[in-house]
Amino acid sequence: MKVTVVGAGAVGASCAEYIAIKDFASEVVILDIKEGFAEGKAMDLMQTASLNSFDTKITGSTSDYSKTAGSDVCVITSGIPRKPGMTREELIGINAGIVKMVSASLIEHSPNTIIIVVSNPMDTMTYLVHKTTGLPKNKIIGMGGALDSARFKYRLAEALGAPISDVDGMVIGGHSDKGMVPLIGKAARNSVVVSEFLSQERMDQVVHDTKVGGATLTGLLGTSAWYAPGAAVSAMVQAIACDTKKIFPCSALLTGEFGLNDLAIGVPCVLGANGIEKIVEISLTDAEKAKLAESAEGVKKTNGLLEL
Ligand code: 2OP
Repeated sequence: MKVTVVGAGAVGASCAEYIAIKDFASEVVILDIKEGFAEGKAMDLMQTASLNSFDTKITGSTSDYSKTAGSDVCVITSGIPRKPGMTREELIGINAGIVKMVSASLIEHSPNTIIIVVSNPMDTMTYLVHKTTGLPKNKIIGMGGALDSARFKYRLAEALGAPISDVDGMVIGGHSDKGMVPLIGKAARNSVVVSEFLSQERMDQVVHDTKVGGATLTGLLGTSAWYAPGAAVSAMVQAIACDTKKIFPCSALLTGEFGLNDLAIGVPCVLGANGIEKIVEISLTDAEKAKLAESAEGVKKTNGLLEL
């Protein structure tokens, strides 16, 4: 299993590190445009191999896409991250051109690859890859919901005073502060819905804190988060590499599912060797359906800014 990570910044390097430590891939190539940067990150990571007990071979490349040839999965993290006060949508002008070039270059050397898009605004960048490459729709996956759901579980565990392993929850919809749909009515502590433990006010707070989870960290860090984003995308790569059939909320191109068409947005997906094996049309309450539809309108509005 060969994985390419484009972008040797904090998210890309964290993703590469988690993939290596999980040791399910034979090779990880990190690629960046900054001279020597990817090579340096790869070498530094390889010098942890004996300490972290992995055999994965990590190499770096400065803009030489031939080094990515034959990649089974390619992760696109390249582009500029948010600064405090910025929305993800404000990144579209610069990141759209980068993602379009990067995806074309990757496919040129790995025509059968599966692409996972991380660059923001992620749902729109995922849609861009669908519209500008010939890849089958099951092979283009946006990473947002896996990260947002991890943040949702963090906030739920905090509110419940429970260990994170006892908590389950999923976030669907757009990967944006306003567009996220944390499914609080379905969230559970060891199969018991959280409304058995939390007041409506406290559940509302959990939903709010989840939706602004990225912005909260950007305010604290001065830039976008990287550990959880890197961990989220590495978990998706592992599901594909190991054909686990795990369900993740992923940004997937919809062609009628949930009554939505012609956009990529976060919905439950079974991930396996073929990428998106299945979009799972879970039952939603009328309120959840309305929130998802409203979120879709927001994503489509951002998609409209693309020059396709
Ligand atoms: C986040 O929410 C970077 O969009 C990513 O942290």
